[in-house]
Amino acid sequence: MKLFLDTADIDEIRTVARWGVLDGVTTNPTLYAKVGGASYDAILQEICRIVPGPVSAEVVADEVEGMLVEGRHFAKLADNIVVKVPMSETGLEAISRFRAEGIRTNCTLIFTANQGLLAAKAGASLLSPFVGRLDDINEEGMTVIRELAEIVRFFELDAEVLSASIRHPRHVTESALAGAHIATLPFKVFQQMVRHPLTDKGIAQFRADWEAARAALAAQKGD
Ligand code: E4P
Repeated sequence: MKLFLDTADIDEIRTVARWGVLDGVTTNPTLYAKVGGASYDAILQEICRIVPGPVSAEVVADEVEGMLVEGRHFAKLADNIVVKVPMSETGLEAISRFRAEGIRTNCTLIFTANQGLLAAKAGASLLSPFVGRLDDINEEGMTVIRELAEIVRFFELDAEVLSASIRHPRHVTESALAGAHIATLPFKVFQQMVRHPLTDKGIAQFRADWEAARAALAAQKGD
């Protein structure tokens, strides 16, 4: 399973890239607004220099021609850019046009398996159901991941299910078990996945025992 970072923060991206576990990055206008300080283009180019995998850049136009202008512009910034297009009638049309031009797309704001099926048929290579936002309104976000992953595999569709809007580490495990090809996680969730209280306790214990053994040896030698 591939793991992406859901951020536009360069420091977070550099950190997880150094761990050797980062397969790609997803950004959106909200994540860009959180970091600011440079143009969206400049940030995307910097991310693409750090991460060789897919980097999603989201369009904000709501008509097809506007989406095409923005998406073609993003696609020229780096070879690994994937244009993120919201699910809608115009979004589907734009996805299908991008497909014809050889530009990869990530269909975002998917909340049902049917929306995902349409996006895959239009030609999106990444399908992004939002798990956390469904859970937030008392629905079962993971059901959409499971259903869509099954549909993609059953019909051998040329698309990957990207589990998005991840809120906690359990969402990552459940996405993997539900068959998602990819999950995109906030930096905090990556950090939470690393840690376990028993790991921390074990490291402290090994360190203490090591120091005690060395002190005993030194005392034996009369140091
Ligand atoms: C990723 O592609 C999405 O934009 C992101 O996961 C949305 O997450 P949120 O629901 O926490 O904003």
